Amino acid sequence: MDEAFCYRDGELCCEEIALSALARRLGTPLYVYSANAIRARYRALARAFGPHPPLVCYALKANHNLAVIRTLAALGAGADTVSAGEILRARRAGVPASKIVFAGVAKTDQEIRLALEEGILQLNVESAEELERIAAIASSTGRTAPIALRVNPDVAAATHEKIATGRRHDKFGIDLADAPALYEKAASLPGVEPVGVHLHIGSQILDLAPFERAYARAVELVRGLRARGLPIRRLDLGGGLGVRYGEEGPADVRAFAELVRRATAGLELELVLEPGRFLVAEAGVLVASVIYLKETGSRRFLVLDAGMNALVRPAMYGARHAIAPLRAPRPEDELLEMDVVGPICESSDIFGRDYRLPRLRPGDLLAFRTAGAYGMVMASDYNSRPSPAEVLVDGARWAVIRRRREPEEQMANEEIPAWLEEPGR
Ligand code: LLP
Repeated sequence: MDEAFCYRDGELCCEEIALSALARRLGTPLYVYSANAIRARYRALARAFGPHPPLVCYALKANHNLAVIRTLAALGAGADTVSAGEILRARRAGVPASKIVFAGVAKTDQEIRLALEEGILQLNVESAEELERIAAIASSTGRTAPIALRVNPDVAAATHEKIATGRRHDKFGIDLADAPALYEKAASLPGVEPVGVHLHIGSQILDLAPFERAYARAVELVRGLRARGLPIRRLDLGGGLGVRYGEEGPADVRAFAELVRRATAGLELELVLEPGRFLVAEAGVLVASVIYLKETGSRRFLVLDAGMNALVRPAMYGARHAIAPLRAPRPEDELLEMDVVGPICESSDIFGRDYRLPRLRPGDLLAFRTAGAYGMVMASDYNSRPSPAEVLVDGARWAVIRRRREPEEQMANEEIPAWLEEPGR
C-alpha cells in the first residue's frame, strides 16, 4: 500500500477518495491519512522479523490522533509514550496497559503515579535521580515499577542535529559506563524491578550502521549485567527508522530486522521497538490552498493558506516535503520555479525555495507529502489561524477525526481579568 496516494483520472486520491472532494467539503489546511498505508507499514515491519516479531510500541509523539492510535492498536501495536497525556491517549484509543512503555527526561511525580496506577509494561528511566524518585513513589504506594534503564550509547546517527539523541552530550539517558552500577542499585531498591535496557539514538535514520553500533553496545551491556548475575529479560531498541521525503528512503526494514536478529542472537530477550515516523509519515499529506502566486521583480512566491502553524518541520529542521498538486500536471504544462511559503508573519515561514510546479492559481489545491508524522502534533495557534482538520480514509470510507479549531474555540479557555476594564468605558 505504498501507493496510497496516487493520481486517478488526473486527481490525487487517498485510497479511493479524491483529496479535492475532501478539501471542498472540509476546507484547508487539511491533514489526510490513509489507514491502509499505516497498516501496511506496521505489517511490513512486523513481518520482517518472521514468526516472533518484537512488541511494536508505536511512538505516539509522531501522530497522537486517537483514530490513528486505534488503527495501529487494532493490529496489536502497543504505545511508546512520553507524558501523562500520551498515556491517557493510548488508553483511550484502546492500547492495553501491558503494551505501554513510558519514556522522557522529565517524568513528574504525577506522571509516575499515573503510570503505576495504570500498570504499564515499563518505565524507561533516564537518570539516577529519576530512579530514586520512581522507587520512592512506587514503594510509598505499595507498588513495584517495572523499569528499564535508558542508556546513552554515544553513537551519532546520521540525521538532523536537532533529532539525534544518542551522543554523550545529548540530554538523554545514562552513560553506558554508569549503567551497571545503577542497574545493580535498581535491583536492590524497593519499589522498582529492573527488567531491561532501553536506547534510542535519533530519528529519520536511513543509514542503518549507527543502529548496529548502538545495539552492539547495548548487547554488550546486557551480557555484562547477566555476568554479574543481574536478571534482564527485555531490550527496548527505540525508534528512528527513516522514511522517504525526497529521493531517499524509506529505511530497509528487512535489513533492519536482520541487523536486530544478528545483534541479539542467542540472548533470549523480549524485544521492543518504538517506531513513530516509519509507521505514519508517508501515510499522511497536508492539503493546502493557493492564496496568491506573487511575482516580484526577482522571485516568484506561491503563498498558501498553510504555514509553519500547520507544518513546522521545514522552518524548524530545514525539512523539505515533496509537493503534489491535487490536479495532475499535464505534459504540456510548463513547470516554473517558485518559493513556496505560508501566510505567517515571519521569514522562517517558508516550505522551501525553487520548487518546480505548474502555474497554480488562487484556489488551486496541493498536497505536502510525507506529512503524517510530526505534522499535526506540532501545529500551533500562531497568528490565530484556524488549525488544520484531520481526516482518516479507509478504502472508500472517510471520517473527520479531528475538527478544525476555529479562533472562537482557540479563545474559549482564555480569560480577561475583571480588573482590566473594557477600553472606551
Ligand atoms: N522513542 C523515543 C525515546 C523517541 O525520543 C522518539 C522520537 C521515538 C521513539 C520515535 O522516533 P521515530 O521512530 O519517529 O523516529 N519532531 C522531529 C522528530 C522528533 C523525534 C523525537 N523522538 C521531526 O519532525 O523530525
